Order: sequence, then structure tokens, then C-alpha cells
Amino acid sequence: SPGRRRRPRRRQGPGPCAAEFCRSALHPTRGKPRTPSLTLARTLPPPISTSISSSAPAAAASGRCAAATAGEMDQDPDDHVQCGVDPEELRHFQEVLCSFCEYGVCMAYEGTRRVHAVREIPVTDRTLLPVDSLLNADAAAFFAAAKRNAEFFARVAVGQGIFDPEVISSQTFAPLMDARNVLNREPGGAAAGHGLGSALPGVPSGESPYVVDFGRRLVTSPHNQRKVHQTLHSVAREWSDEGAAEREECFTPLIQELRRRLPLGAGERFRHRVLLPGAGLGRLVAEVVSAGYRAQGNEFCYQMLLTSEYILNGLGDTTWELHPWADSCTNEVRRGDNVRGVRVPDIAPQELLDFDESAGHGLADDDSNVIPPFSMTAGEFMEVYEDRVAFWDSVVTCFFIDTAPRITEYIRALYRMIKPGGYWINLGPLLWHWAPSLPG
Ligand SMILES: C[S@@+](CC[C@H](N)C(=O)[O-])C[C@H]1O[C@@H](n2cnc3c(N)ncnc32)[C@H](O)[C@@H]1O
Repeated sequence: SPGRRRRPRRRQGPGPCAAEFCRSALHPTRGKPRTPSLTLARTLPPPISTSISSSAPAAAASGRCAAATAGEMDQDPDDHVQCGVDPEELRHFQEVLCSFCEYGVCMAYEGTRRVHAVREIPVTDRTLLPVDSLLNADAAAFFAAAKRNAEFFARVAVGQGIFDPEVISSQTFAPLMDARNVLNREPGGAAAGHGLGSALPGVPSGESPYVVDFGRRLVTSPHNQRKVHQTLHSVAREWSDEGAAEREECFTPLIQELRRRLPLGAGERFRHRVLLPGAGLGRLVAEVVSAGYRAQGNEFCYQMLLTSEYILNGLGDTTWELHPWADSCTNEVRRGDNVRGVRVPDIAPQELLDFDESAGHGLADDDSNVIPPFSMTAGEFMEVYEDRVAFWDSVVTCFFIDTAPRITEYIRALYRMIKPGGYWINLGPLLWHWAPSLPG
């Protein structure tokens, strides 16, 4: 679970309907402006339509900013004021893409830091430590692990339109331009499989360690760098075999309780609507759908949202070997523990989300209440659902409620949006993420 962090601005995440990543062919985003703004489908339909807008739904729906045409790569985000794309949202989105594209460089810094630290071990102590291995084999394993992770995140960024002129800006976000140029040079360019070779921004080919341009300032803030690392940790928890025991302890009791409280009779698949705020990478949402419930996840962290979008929609039959703990020096029992690989995903999402796309939308009182059997919304949970009243049969929270700056506000919101007689099912610690930064 994320540790201490600054309290976000009200719209730290995409915000309600501010960012719309929609498989419109499958799940048109409908209803009032504040209804779900991110819809993730389970199959591999036509290319994802990425639209960013909070104030001009038409521009967002078209997926194109009128001011941006192919070849115009030097727009400043502020130019988007004219076309109705919220510059603040766009900037945040670009920063998040940068955090993916700069992951390799950040890890190269970390690897270089470690190498320097070993070199500085006093001569008298060198015989006590495996200095040779630390400087060679271990360093090589670290850089190889970092490179694979970086390739994965580059793919996530590519899937979110770093080739689109309206998404990147050469002046402000050099890493996105670098990534674009490098990936363009790859055989097959962006459309190729995920084998990016060694050509990644800031990660030149050749033997490790990387050659890093230490002269260039990182665009990515430490806050966003941390988010990428946390996302990688969540990938292991939610979508790898290594996370199976943790999921068994956390997800299974929640689903058992859901089944106990809202049993499903014959022909009642998708009868009950379940909301899962703070959904992370969507695994629990998928498991709840697999158990027969109509589930919607909600998440406000772009890194999480974009990565889950890639895992759910972008992988096809591909699996990745990732190294989720490579960034960490702690909890390493034996040397090499932290660069161990995990295979992602452990199960094809399609296996969990095995339903007919067109089936079972019959729960609508009106259009705005239609939700597909599986969906995700982007934005801050209290804002996204501020108009929802007596709608959900159950809200399931997993490792979430301690993200509340004020728990009473969360509880009041849950009480409002759950149907009378419905259930709030919760599991997780009470680490109160905001406590250190709140006054008093
Ligand atoms: C500790 S993680 C738990 C993730 C997942 N439920 C699990 O158990 O693996 C908490 C998640 O809630 C998200 N989150 C925190 N506050 C939120 C809010 N107000 N609205 C939506 N998502 C939020 C975070 O971005 C993070 O992904």
C-alpha cells in the first residue's frame, strides 16, 4: 500500500469525465457528464480511442483536438484552451506518460548510484563483501531487469497515444518525443510486438550499465516516479502468480462475503451491481464479474488506470516477465531476490471476463443507469459518484478506506449510493494515508 504522500489537489487524477478512454464501439459512454468516464473492455477491438477533455465533450468524443494536426508536434498544452481540452488535465496526462517513458532513466540513475556506492566501500572492507559480483553480475542483472520493466511501461505509454500530436508536446515533454522517435525507429514501429530491443529513451543499446545522459533533468517528479514503482508492485499483487497468496487472503474473503450476502439464483448472473472504489489494476473487479456480479471499478491514479488498460486490452496472448522489486534494496534475504521475475498476467483477463458483450444490460431504469457487466471509471471516487443515490447493491472496498482524508465523508457517500438493504463489504488496513499531512 502506498505510504505517506501529499494530499492531492482536488483533481489529482483525471477527475470525473475529465479523461475518457473509451472503447466506444463496445461501451459507449452514456448518461450524465459525471457518469463513468473510463470504460475498459475485455476483448481486443479496434484501436483505443483516447480522448482528453473536461469541458468539451465533443472534442473528447472525437478523440482529436482541432488545433492539433499530424506533424504539429510543438504545441504547448496551453494551446488546447482554444479547443476545449483542459490544459491542466492534458499536462497531468503528459506527466504521467513521461513517468512511464522515464522509468528506464530513473532506474539507470538508481543502478549507477548502487555501483558508485559499492566502489566507495573502503579497501579494508572489500574482502568482507562480494564486491566483484556486486559490480558485475549483480549490476548486470539489475540493469537487465530494469530494461524489461522499461520496455513494458514504454508499451503502456505507446498504447495511450504518445504518437498522437495532441498528446505530446516537444517543447515541454522531451521524454515523450524521445520515446516516439526511438519507437518509430524500431522495426515495425509502434505497431510491432513488444520486443523493443534495447532502444529505449535514455537506455542506449549495448552492454549494461546504461549510458545515461546525466546532463538532462528528469521531467518526472519524484511523486510520479513513486507512482510507477507502486504500480509495478501492484502488477505483482494483482496479475502474477506471486500475488496469488495475497489475493487469496484479501480478495477471496470479500467475494465469499458478497456471495453470502447477495446470493445468485439460476439466471441471475449480473443481477447485482457492485462498485469497487480504489480498484488498482482491476483484478478484484474482474474476479467479482467472474463470480457473476455486474462490477464497476473506480480508480484515480493514471499510472494504475493506464497500466490496467494495457493488461486488460492491450496484451492479447502476450505475457511479460517483469521485475517488480528491482527498485528496492529492502527485504532482500538473498542477493538477487529483488531482481526475480514474475510472469504477467497469470491468467488471461478474457478468461475471467467471459461473457457476451451484448448480453445482460437489462438493469437500466434509464440510459444513465446502464452499466456493462465489467467497467472501470477514472476519477476521484467522491466526485465521480457524487450524484449516485441508492444505486449499488453492494460496495466492496479492499485496502481503500484508509485513503480517506476524512473517513466520515467516505462513509456518508457509501451510505448514499448503496441501495437500502444493500451491503458495504470492507477488508484492509487502517494506515490512514493522509494522517501525517493533515492539520491537528
Ligand atoms: C492501497 S491501493 C489498493 C488497490 C486494490 N484495491 C488492492 O487491494 O490491491 C488503494 C488504491 O486506491 C486508489 N485511490 C485512493 N484514493 C482514491 C480516491 N479518492 N478515488 C479513487 N481511487 C482512489 C489509489 O490510487 C490506489 O490504487
